[in-house]
Amino acid sequence: MVKRSFAWMAATGALVCAMPVAAQKSTEQGIQEYRDMLADGNPAELVELRGEDLWTTPQGPKKATLESCDLGLGPGVVKNAVAKLPKYFPDAGKVMDIESRLVYCMMTLQGRDRAEITKKPYSGAGDKPTELESLVAYVYAQGRGATIAVPQTHPEEKLARARGEKIFYFRGGPYDFSCASCHATDDQRIRLQGLPNLTKQGPAQSAFGSWPAYRVSQGAVRTMQWRMFDCFRQQRFPELQYGSQASVDLITFLGVNANGGTMQATSLKR
Ligand code: HEC
Repeated sequence: MVKRSFAWMAATGALVCAMPVAAQKSTEQGIQEYRDMLADGNPAELVELRGEDLWTTPQGPKKATLESCDLGLGPGVVKNAVAKLPKYFPDAGKVMDIESRLVYCMMTLQGRDRAEITKKPYSGAGDKPTELESLVAYVYAQGRGATIAVPQTHPEEKLARARGEKIFYFRGGPYDFSCASCHATDDQRIRLQGLPNLTKQGPAQSAFGSWPAYRVSQGAVRTMQWRMFDCFRQQRFPELQYGSQASVDLITFLGVNANGGTMQATSLKR
């Protein structure tokens, strides 16, 4: 059963063995300094504006905007929608996080091709933010301050959380790591970075509520899908596919642990 979770991961089979990009100045003090320095303006705001523009720009074969996209609260309702995701969407017949839902709307409303949309979801160093990063930043900006309420009412939502939990504790790879190896103990650190205990409500709330984040060290907005992708990489697991069921399941598990917390994204991180 545990082995089977790899199918959900839609793995490429390629192990990415690069060491995590280590920031030179990575203490929490350093991060606080950044925050103080940038207190008057989070660079993510520019990305949010770009996202708003993209939301209202007709695109694709259907020359449609995303303005009637249903993020779970009804067509076109963006305010606070992210705080209630992932959730089950009857039209798609599955549980979706914000990023897979945006892709779904781009496909259905604009008539665009999934492969084209998700070819390069994350920007590289020095690149402009991608379309998905911009849209995500825009949508999260409309959810700031909302209470995290990831639903567990539909049976599919319960299944997604349960699979996510299984993946969280699934050990493998060259170091026999699971997410839990780094994220299920209090006060654990790797080099100078604190590792939040994501099985506990407090740390889960601040972690879930603070992504997407503007990464100062990378000069870019990084989304929750990116966070999962990069931790898979740190775990030396096969590459996590954008919007895959495994990624949505993990985000559902983390989100349910974080229920009751407050959405603060887009935050600033080192
Ligand atoms: C080898 C250790 C390691 C493993 C294994 C690992 N992570 Fe992480 N994780 C980190 C580090 C280090 C950070 C902080 C990264 C940073 O600031 O660059 C982090 C950050 C995070 C965060 C953001 C926390 C916050 O408050 O910003 C989340 C969420 C997360 N990891 C989830 C996961 C999940 C889910 C898995 C399993 C797929 C996982 N991690 C596996 C090391 C790990």
